Amino acid sequence: MSDSIQFEGTTDVLQLSPDGYGRLARYITGELGIKMPDSKMNMIQSRLVRRVRELGLSSVEHYGQYLFAPGNNEEREHFINAVTTNKTDFFREPEHFQYLTDIALPSLVGAAKYDSSFIRVWSAACSSGEEPYTLAMVLSEFTRKQRQSGFAILATDVSTKVLQMAQNGVYAEDQIAPVPLAMRSKYLLQNHSRSERLIRIAPELRQRVSFHHLNFMAPNYQIKDRFDIIFLRNVLIYFDKDVQEAVVNKVCHYLSPGGYLFVSHSESLSGLKVPVKSVRPLSIASRCQITNSPWQGSDFERAGLWSRRKEQKIEGGH
Ligand SMILES: C[S@@+](CC[C@H](N)C(=O)[O-])C[C@H]1O[C@@H](n2cnc3c(N)ncnc32)[C@H](O)[C@@H]1O
Repeated sequence: MSDSIQFEGTTDVLQLSPDGYGRLARYITGELGIKMPDSKMNMIQSRLVRRVRELGLSSVEHYGQYLFAPGNNEEREHFINAVTTNKTDFFREPEHFQYLTDIALPSLVGAAKYDSSFIRVWSAACSSGEEPYTLAMVLSEFTRKQRQSGFAILATDVSTKVLQMAQNGVYAEDQIAPVPLAMRSKYLLQNHSRSERLIRIAPELRQRVSFHHLNFMAPNYQIKDRFDIIFLRNVLIYFDKDVQEAVVNKVCHYLSPGGYLFVSHSESLSGLKVPVKSVRPLSIASRCQITNSPWQGSDFERAGLWSRRKEQKIEGGH
């Protein structure tokens, strides 16, 4: 007897045939650049089960056929949302934010061209928003202390599901553990529900971040600006070397001369022909437009009451 999940009246719902998997894998690589070895088959199967149930289909194999049926283009968005890996955190790889405050931002505002001192940042592959909101907190602290005029953050991702979450800016209370206490009381609001403790990013921070859909594989990114700082973290790992090189080159097109590109500690630019040089293991200098966003407005405001968090000092806390 099979030990995989069965739907009533059906056979093995989780099982994809090699051909069925091959077709989905080729679509993912062609559409997103993500490499899809055979070892990812179980992961893809299990990620599709929920969607298969929602659609009332009999198996993951049938889902593959449904996805590519003529006229089913809309399903491709659901598929991309299901197969992308969106793991992220506030203050992930905290050394990057320290480097930003101690070295990158002071060097940028010290440069002659920064007389106007407006700082532009791009969080490329922003997932559910923790990264751009961390950047917004750090930039907010920096610009306030340095009496700089301000900053704006563009945050993009290919998954519409995480973009919607990011746009809402609402997180479970345990997700904010990495946020330093002093910043929590300034930049986070809490709800008044006893059953579900949620926090929300304060409006003055949210208004600094604009969320847009962007696929790195798109021929034209339609971005008008150049950025002083670009975070391109924990996404290159999903690409093979050629795709990494092509994506970094395209992204660097939007990096101002003297600006900084951050990739993850687990990613490397060495061996890639890219117009940036490593100034540390993590940041770089180089050279480098924004369409109207579909990510405007959210009805979350109506959903609950929000107030400033009052943090208590906890032993060993930030
Ligand atoms: C692991 S998350 C990284 C989030 C954040 N940058 C961080 O470091 O915590 C990777 C993100 O890359 C996005 N992604 C994957 N392929 C992409 C593509 N071709 N274009 C744009 N975003 C992509 C995924 O949707 C996902 O949200």
